[in-house]
Amino acid sequence: MYRVLVVDDDADLRLSVASALSESHYQVDQAKDGEEAVNRVRAGKYKLVILDVNMPRMSGLEALKEIKAHDPSIIAIILTAFSNIRDAVEATKEGAYNYLEKPIKAENLVYMVDKALRAHNMVKNMSMSAPVFKMPNGTEFIGQSNEMKRVFGVIDKLSRVDTAVLIRGESGTGKELVAQSLHYNGPRKDNRFVTINCSAIPENLIESEFFGHEKGAFTGADSRKIGKFQYADGGTLFLDEIGDISAAMQVKLLRALQEKRFTPVGSNREVEVNVRIVAATNRNLEEMIKKGEFREDLFYRLNVLPIQLPPLRERKNDIEVLANYFVEKFNHQHKKNITGIAASAMEVLKAHPWPGNIRELENVIEHSFVIENTNEVTIESLPTALQGTSNRPGLTRSIQNLDLDDADLDLDQDQDLDGALDESGNKIVGTLSLRSGSAGFRLDVQKLDFQASKEEFEKQFLISALKAFQGRINQTALHANIPKKTLLRKLEKYGINARDYNS
Ligand SMILES: Nc1ncnc2c1ncn2[C@@H]1O[C@H](COP(=O)(O)OP(=O)(O)OP(=O)(O)O)[C@@H](O)[C@H]1O
Ligand SMILES: [Mg+2]
Repeated sequence: MYRVLVVDDDADLRLSVASALSESHYQVDQAKDGEEAVNRVRAGKYKLVILDVNMPRMSGLEALKEIKAHDPSIIAIILTAFSNIRDAVEATKEGAYNYLEKPIKAENLVYMVDKALRAHNMVKNMSMSAPVFKMPNGTEFIGQSNEMKRVFGVIDKLSRVDTAVLIRGESGTGKELVAQSLHYNGPRKDNRFVTINCSAIPENLIESEFFGHEKGAFTGADSRKIGKFQYADGGTLFLDEIGDISAAMQVKLLRALQEKRFTPVGSNREVEVNVRIVAATNRNLEEMIKKGEFREDLFYRLNVLPIQLPPLRERKNDIEVLANYFVEKFNHQHKKNITGIAASAMEVLKAHPWPGNIRELENVIEHSFVIENTNEVTIESLPTALQGTSNRPGLTRSIQNLDLDDADLDLDQDQDLDGALDESGNKIVGTLSLRSGSAGFRLDVQKLDFQASKEEFEKQFLISALKAFQGRINQTALHANIPKKTLLRKLEKYGINARDYNS
């Protein structure tokens, strides 16, 4: 919680400003003149000071000079009557952030304080987060750990050459960002960056996806189609999840890489292309080679220049800059004004092992944006999994406690059928309470069937969770503690369309 000092000789004004700020979750202290203000600032840690101009003993302007001399990073906002507006302008030259004219409207003041702190945090983060690669869509690739500085240096060098690059790293470590950085930082940047997700394409279509096909080449090929190799001509072809291609496709890919030529399906003419290949995988290709699942010759062809992305738990130094970066990103995206991350929440983020790496961190911050109702990311809006097993006081049974397995378990173990009955005489087996509404589940004693009831419960649970997270699959999976694949499978099973819950 940020500490703010309100300085004014008018007790009523001081009080009203202080209460508006406390309501907005700032920790507020008061001082009645410049001298008291300076003493308090010297004694305590304040992020921001709100100063009246005309006060007995020491004026606001004199106090401002002393405060800035003590700690130049303290943000000062001046409150002034119209008659003193010249002084206020003077104060901004002395380092005050801005001024507000009396009479003060509480909402304007809170808005200015939020904005000042955000600007302050942004400047601080920017100085911490270099170097940065920026993609044309605005996405940034950041980090300040030595491990990432090394990776950025390698990207910088490799972006200028045409050799194949293999990017290795656990899921969510930023492999796709590396591939984009290589492309957009190099001479091919004005041509296309084309991605093939090798694990997502059915085996019978993958050859055509890579190399294209002629009309009538196979059932369903009712027109000629250009493959991704050709589409990426002059640019970069990113082969994501390369460890997932079949043995047959490995042979065809190897040939295309060696000869820089290929034949579209059903064609008898070869096509020549100029593409740079960047591949990525989170699988252990060396192990796969040993088991005969991945061709050694293809591996050597791709692995000329490898880039290894370390997991987030091995570069904890990056957690703070990444978390702050995501706060800025989601402020923009959700049109919110979250000023930063509370120190206690940051401690929790730094202590977490992040098995899902940066993607997990990004999801956690976005989750916090959905449910946070103060002006910073607090510990209460982090998922329970991160907060440890202890149940914090003041936490309502809410989204924090959303857990399908728990819910399942309760239901499985519920032998006691003498519970409460609703108005139609149906037993209430479980209810889920979410901040955005609750999903009650009532058991129809006429149609007592364990499997059917369990399924109905699951269905209602999933609908409620999707509603709470506006139909977002990743968010719902993370916070309901269901593996994403299981969630998708269950949605399909129950015919639930996540998009129906987009708001
Ligand atoms: N250093 C970073 N700076 C900013 N954002 C990052 C960084 N690393 C990863 N991200 C973000 O985290 C998310 C996951 O990154 P990315 O998709 O590149 O990971 P990946 O290694 O390809 O994961 P997977 O193996 O699961 O496909 C993306 O939204 C990406 O923008
Ligand atoms: Mg990826």
